[in-house]
Amino acid sequence: MTKISHATFGAIALAMTAFPAFAGDIEAGESAFTSQCQNCHNVTNDEGEVLAGRPNMRTGPNLYGVIGRQAGTIDGFRYGASLVDAGEAGLVWNEDDLVPYLLDPTTFLRETLDERRARSQMSFRVRDEDTARDIIAFLTQFSEVEDNDTDEAEDSEG
Ligand code: HEC
Repeated sequence: MTKISHATFGAIALAMTAFPAFAGDIEAGESAFTSQCQNCHNVTNDEGEVLAGRPNMRTGPNLYGVIGRQAGTIDGFRYGASLVDAGEAGLVWNEDDLVPYLLDPTTFLRETLDERRARSQMSFRVRDEDTARDIIAFLTQFSEVEDNDTDEAEDSEG
C-alpha cells in the first residue's frame, strides 16, 4: 500500500475545510471572563436574569448581546465620548473589532476614529489574542449571531 487512496485524501480535505475559521474555546473563555471581566461587567438578559458574572455590576456595560450591537449603546450606562462616537460612526461589535479592542481599547478607538486624543474608559487589557478570542466565543453564546461563518461551497477536487 504505497498510494493514498482517493477516499483517504477526500477525508483529509474534508477535515481541513471543516476546521473552524476561528478557534475560540468557550470553556476557556468562560474562565477568562470570570477572572478578567466580571470585576466590571456582567451578562444580564432582557428579563433581568444574570447569565454570567455577578448581579448589580455596573462598572462596565452589560455584555448581553454585545456581538452585533452598536458600540456604546446600553441605556443608562455612562460611556466615554470616544466609544459613543465610534458607535455613531458605525462600529458594530464583531470578532474582528473586539479582538484589538480587548487587547488595547484606547489604541483601538484612536485608530477607529482616526483621532489621536480618543480615549477608552475601559482600563483593562487582555494580554493575548487567543484569550480574547476565547472570551468572544463565550460572549457569542449570549448574542444573536447568525451561524453561517463557514463556507461549505468549496470543493477541493479540481
Ligand atoms: C476595570 C473595569 C473593566 C474590566 C476589568 C473590563 N472592562 Fe470592559 N468596559 C469597562 C468600561 C468602563 C467600559 C466602557 C468604556 C467606555 O465608555 O469607553 C467597558 C466597555 C466594554 C465593551 C464595549 C461595550 C459596549 O457597550 O460598547 C466591551 C465589549 C467590553 N468592555 C468587554 C470587556 C471584556 C470582554 C472584558 C474582560 C476581558 C472587560 N471588558 C474587562 C470596564 C472594564
